[in-house]
Amino acid sequence: MCGIVGLTGKDIRVKELVKALKKLEYRGYDSAGIAFQDKENVYVKKEKGRILNLENMLGDINEKIVESCIAHTRWATHGEPSELNAHPHTDCTGKIAVVHNGIIENYMEIKHALIEKGHRFSSETDTEVIAHLIEEYYYGDLQKAVSHAILDLSGAYAIAVIHNDHPGEIIAARKGSPLVLGKNDDKAILASDVTPALKYTREMIFLEDGDIAHLSENKIEIFSVNGTRINRQSTLINWDEESAEKGGFEHFMLKEIFDEPQSIRSALMGKISDEKVVFKELDSISENISKTKKINVIACGTSYHAGLIFKKFIEDYANTEVEIDVASEFRYKNNIIDTDSIVIAISQSGETTDTLEGVRKAKSKGAKIIAITNIVGSTISREADAVIYLNAGLEIGVAATKTYVTQLTILYLLGTYIAALKNVSKDKLNKIILNMMDMPTVIENILSYAPDVCLQLAKEFYKYKHFMYIGRGYSYPSALEGALKLKEISYIHASAYQAGELKHGPIALLDDEFPVFAIVPDDELKKKTLSNVIETKARNAKIVGICTEGDKEVSKIINSRIEVPKTIDALYPLIMSPFLQLFAYYVSILRKYDPDKPRNLAKSVTVE
Ligand code: AGP
Repeated sequence: MCGIVGLTGKDIRVKELVKALKKLEYRGYDSAGIAFQDKENVYVKKEKGRILNLENMLGDINEKIVESCIAHTRWATHGEPSELNAHPHTDCTGKIAVVHNGIIENYMEIKHALIEKGHRFSSETDTEVIAHLIEEYYYGDLQKAVSHAILDLSGAYAIAVIHNDHPGEIIAARKGSPLVLGKNDDKAILASDVTPALKYTREMIFLEDGDIAHLSENKIEIFSVNGTRINRQSTLINWDEESAEKGGFEHFMLKEIFDEPQSIRSALMGKISDEKVVFKELDSISENISKTKKINVIACGTSYHAGLIFKKFIEDYANTEVEIDVASEFRYKNNIIDTDSIVIAISQSGETTDTLEGVRKAKSKGAKIIAITNIVGSTISREADAVIYLNAGLEIGVAATKTYVTQLTILYLLGTYIAALKNVSKDKLNKIILNMMDMPTVIENILSYAPDVCLQLAKEFYKYKHFMYIGRGYSYPSALEGALKLKEISYIHASAYQAGELKHGPIALLDDEFPVFAIVPDDELKKKTLSNVIETKARNAKIVGICTEGDKEVSKIINSRIEVPKTIDALYPLIMSPFLQLFAYYVSILRKYDPDKPRNLAKSVTVE
């Protein structure tokens, strides 16, 4: 996720755009850049790191009056965070400058074709191809050139373009990434969300996929790709600036749960082709993966829970042994690892010290390391042999939500990829692939009713001091993750057990003051789990549960329940996640805590 902003009109100083860009810093901050046009030329300035670094570097230029300008704050996806890869990107002539939020999936093919035609590239980004494509199609009409260029792109984009020979004009286009437009009597603005535009107007136009916008002074015109004029209604935005940053949600955590369909979509992008899973990132070690007899996984916290689901998935689908360790244990134990070993290290931040030390230890024994992380340029991404990015977008809430569901998405795909390398039947794997392709829509539907259901249940349960989460098979890691979310943000003591373990001790804890959160999907272990639930009921424990839609057997036992759509056994953890997260979220709210800033916790644990 990156942020883009553009401004044109009367008396614009560079510092005005920098200020607007700062409103988008939450969308990424590994580098920032600006392109502005005075009456003669387009100039580009970029800097690694936060927007403040750019502002300091600009110095006197901040006061310069310009005709139009565009800017970008980056969250790297293609190419490490560096000044060179920072936006805006330009064409060979330096006359065209482009900022982009999104991912161009076919940029490699386009890049090769453009290099053949003589274009010279200076960055590793997918975005630079857009500037060169516009150059290729430019014959004096910038809007036409942009319209032509976007027809060649597949993937997602929101772009803004300025050209040396078009002072005061900005051309913008979108497909799959957000873009908002607004204007007042003197100026027109575009931005990735409404926050930078609120200073100018409360009437916003939300660009739709396929729209091309032409901004000049205080004018906004919208066209289709073939040049037909389109009328888009504006929307009145009543948010203050703080809630606008959170997309109108009360907390980042809630916003990030609602980001999940889009994050899963981004994680899937480019990974499924011809009904097969592709991981170009793994090309260099695919031989090692096919030969290996055992895979090791290391991770902490929520990432560890995602790893537990992966372990079961790989054992079920690829018939390959997986050993998983919490990274803080792995780094100090005698690991049976050698040059044939594959170690998968899962870390959202890519900076968790224990996971990094585990990686270093495994590497020193000759293992090949696959890192799964959300942060391009993170330490783990630099030290691993191969890196798979989550592309979940920046997560600000300390409790992992959208990064957990994207970890699961990537891990299911990786499991399917490994199973294919191990010659598992296509039919078995196709079922997973087809279901995964539907996941963004399934989660979108779930989010249309889940908040109400979870709020009601939270009202029933938020006063309890303890919780016991239980599940079997794929639902045991879900129980661990549900309990962790509740502990983290509501400070209720919550533990998780394999449902079959209750009678070996934990059941002694239960009474009418100690409720049970039972995870009982309609999978091959349902009857077993249900009989454990009945045992807890006999101890007077109140039960809240998750089951499959329309499951009468479960609904007879559990009154306070959440119902999820039917899916393949292995995929239940993914569709249950929003419910577990929302239940914890509302309990935290009802207990009057701030779920975005839980006490004693940091987003990334860079100490031992
Ligand atoms: C999850 O809600 C927590 N914030 C925490 O358990 C986290 O998953 C853990 O610290 C690992 O972080 P990482 O994925 O960045 O390595």
